[in-house]
Amino acid sequence: MAEVKLKTDTFLVSETDKKGVITFANEDFCKIAGYELKELIAKNHNIVRHPDMPKAAFKDLWDTVQSGKVWTGVVKNSCKNRDDYYWVFATVYPMENGYMSCRRKASEDEIQKASELYKTLN
Ligand SMILES: Cc1cc2nc3c(=O)[nH]c(=O)nc-3n(C[C@H](O)[C@H](O)[C@H](O)COP(=O)(O)O)c2cc1C
Repeated sequence: MAEVKLKTDTFLVSETDKKGVITFANEDFCKIAGYELKELIAKNHNIVRHPDMPKAAFKDLWDTVQSGKVWTGVVKNSCKNRDDYYWVFATVYPMENGYMSCRRKASEDEIQKASELYKTLN
């Protein structure tokens, strides 16, 4: 298991429809996650879900964006090979026809706090 460390100028962007089906992913997202764009389009966004992520985090995400608000949080995602993973600080925005997430590198402090919290929630 290896952590893929993001650069500070890396931004992983994806968009979904109202149900969380991926409709767009930018180059940084595809590159870091290890997918080609065509492998992501039309897939459920849980394709990048890491088993360490608690269900409660995504319930909070969905409750927030479905009520029209912006959600922010620290997320651990799996790469395609399932061994590697990467941490991001995500901001998820409601849009007219779905949702958009823009992710930046999470700081070491954010990663440490989130991983401790998530252990207690799992
Ligand atoms: C715009 C958007 C971006 C999302 N990004 C991620 C993500 O990067 N990683 C992730 O695990 N789930 C992400 N989700 C949440 C997934 O839709 C899903 O709820 C989550 O992976 C948990 O999977 P499950 O609902 O099958 O339990 C995103 C949802 C939306 C609307």
